[in-house]
Amino acid sequence: MHPDFPHAMAPGAIGKFTAKNRIYMSAQTTSFATSGVPNDRHIAYLVERARGGLGIIFSEAVDVMSGHGYPETGLRLSIERDEAVPAFARLVGALHEEGTGAFLQLTQTGHTRFWAPSDVGIGGVAPRPREMPTEEMGRLRAAFADAARRGVEAGFDGIELHFGHGHLLHRFLSPVLNVRSDGYGGSPENRLRYPLEVLAAVRAEVGGDFPLGVRVSSDDLGGLGPDEYMMVSILKAIVQSGLVDFLNVSQGGANTSAEQLPDMTFPEAPFIEMTRRVIADLPPITIMTTGRFRQLATAERILSDGGISFIGMTRAHTADPEVMAKALRGEADKVRPCVACNYCGERAVASAMGLACMVNARAGREHLWPLQPPMALQNGRGPIVVVGGGPAGMEFARVAASRGHSVELYDAGDRLGGQMNAAASAATRGDFLKLIDYFEGELRQAGVAVHLNAWMNVERISSLAPALTVVATGARPVAQWLPGLGDLPSFEPADLAHGDTRHVCLVDQEGGWRSVAAVEAWMERSKGRLTIVTPSAGFADGASAHFTRTPLVRRLGQHNVSIVTDHNAVAFEQGRLTVKSVFTGATFDIEGIEVVTGVSNFRSSNGLARALADAKLEYRIIGDAYLPRDALEAIHAGHCLALELQ
Ligand SMILES: Cc1cc2nc3c(=O)[nH]c(=O)nc-3n(C[C@H](O)[C@H](O)[C@H](O)COP(=O)(O)O)c2cc1C
Ligand code: SF4
Repeated sequence: MHPDFPHAMAPGAIGKFTAKNRIYMSAQTTSFATSGVPNDRHIAYLVERARGGLGIIFSEAVDVMSGHGYPETGLRLSIERDEAVPAFARLVGALHEEGTGAFLQLTQTGHTRFWAPSDVGIGGVAPRPREMPTEEMGRLRAAFADAARRGVEAGFDGIELHFGHGHLLHRFLSPVLNVRSDGYGGSPENRLRYPLEVLAAVRAEVGGDFPLGVRVSSDDLGGLGPDEYMMVSILKAIVQSGLVDFLNVSQGGANTSAEQLPDMTFPEAPFIEMTRRVIADLPPITIMTTGRFRQLATAERILSDGGISFIGMTRAHTADPEVMAKALRGEADKVRPCVACNYCGERAVASAMGLACMVNARAGREHLWPLQPPMALQNGRGPIVVVGGGPAGMEFARVAASRGHSVELYDAGDRLGGQMNAAASAATRGDFLKLIDYFEGELRQAGVAVHLNAWMNVERISSLAPALTVVATGARPVAQWLPGLGDLPSFEPADLAHGDTRHVCLVDQEGGWRSVAAVEAWMERSKGRLTIVTPSAGFADGASAHFTRTPLVRRLGQHNVSIVTDHNAVAFEQGRLTVKSVFTGATFDIEGIEVVTGVSNFRSSNGLARALADAKLEYRIIGDAYLPRDALEAIHAGHCLALELQ
């Protein structure tokens, strides 16, 4: 038993299965699949996390049935066919080799636009979904049972059905989305009938002693329900059915993605009290729960309070597969922090581009890159000089130094972090600073010589006789000029007095984290009115739109904010701002504006690169200096270059 983590590291039983400890990774869709089955990329990603010490890893959401006419991409997992079993068995076997339990998550996901309990949409412009006739429900119920049989054949240690996160069976529980007039809608008992039938069919297939449970949302948090009060009786009925060995409690529903993956605006473990409330009066049952657990110490504290048997640390493991191992070694301060930016969700789920992590460029590339990149050839050449200490420069320096290169990092500013400092300027985005702290620690440990307030030019660089110069000088804002006003001042929170009551217009050309930080700073300080004008289709789409939007929009709703999308500001005169449609060129005026301010887009700062080229010095260029982009791509570029060097 570990002296600091006696509860987290104690074995834990779920039915007949015993996990070596109480920490798990919950389901995480990756969009890595080829033709719907697991491949080497899945295995390498999950095995690296299993090696970190996890007790249980859940598969990502696995579909049980197609046939709704949706053009399948094959990027998501499906266990609809017997032929899929060997690929799943390979994944299970790989996790078992590391001593980690493998659980399967079964669901019907992604196509809830097509199948639903009733033809009730969740808002937006999507067409109404198709109300499932009972015959189709019967086929799906049988498909769940068949899928579970295949899961047992593949060797999984347990199975969970998804009753949460706005997936199909969750929608049956909702009084808003399920308005059926047959025996599957109306009363709470009727709404639970179909999910319980599916559960019973699966139980009949897997046998009485096979570990089986459900993933539930303690509250959908988006007004579609069920809310936590309804969930108390729903959970009681599920447990009293005798069909389940565990409940895996999450939160969020069909229109609250940023609550499913609590984003940076939430503190650590923000929903734990809600979890405790919904499970308070349940008959004895194994409870698992997730939701922004970043540190093993927090998991230990919650487990030691009792009532909860397992804690999920999912994104924490994406960001650092060694999050547990480091804590067990007494090196929790060396963990690469998940900053809950939710780019992973954006890439893997919203856009199906394949999972990637802002802070961990290796995530999803474990099958391509060796765990220990080869040490650099020591050929007596000079140091590598990195100019620019933003995300790209810091990541390059960290990885290059860990490979044995002698690295010197120069930044003209008085602190590391570059644009991340601006993104972190709102109180709700302070986690970006944790990432800068992490980099500072890593650079120190790797022996990178960091020089701040150091303006570098070709002469200074030449005097260092570098083997290579890496230009990571970032990007600079492009001045916005507005007829009638001249240069648009960039938004500075300090310019707003607390309690400011003026009508401010934010002309947003950036559409990313800086815009979010500006608006949040305005909300923190102002009691006035804000009009945001953006040429994009939505506000701050560049900042992980799908998975950060709801908490932000909810807070905006508590303030006097209007958003004018698809328009540029073109003139300002006597409190009147003229805006012009990016599509039609039509204009209209917004009256009564007292302050006009802007968040600009960026242009690469690559003058140094051009000067180095002219001087025929060897250089490489990364990050925003190459092309303004988000921090995920900047860090990725720094990482790749550091791996590429000999
Ligand atoms: C990229 C990504 C994909 C996810 N896919 C699923 C999924 O397939 N099924 C599911 O139940 N939850 C999914 N989730 C939610 C996680 O299981 C977990 O509940 C969430 O990340 C919060 O836990 P954490 O703070 O420990 O990451 C996903 C989360 C992420 C980040
Ligand atoms: S992408 Fe962001 S939220 Fe996702 S694991 Fe990485 S740091 Fe955490």
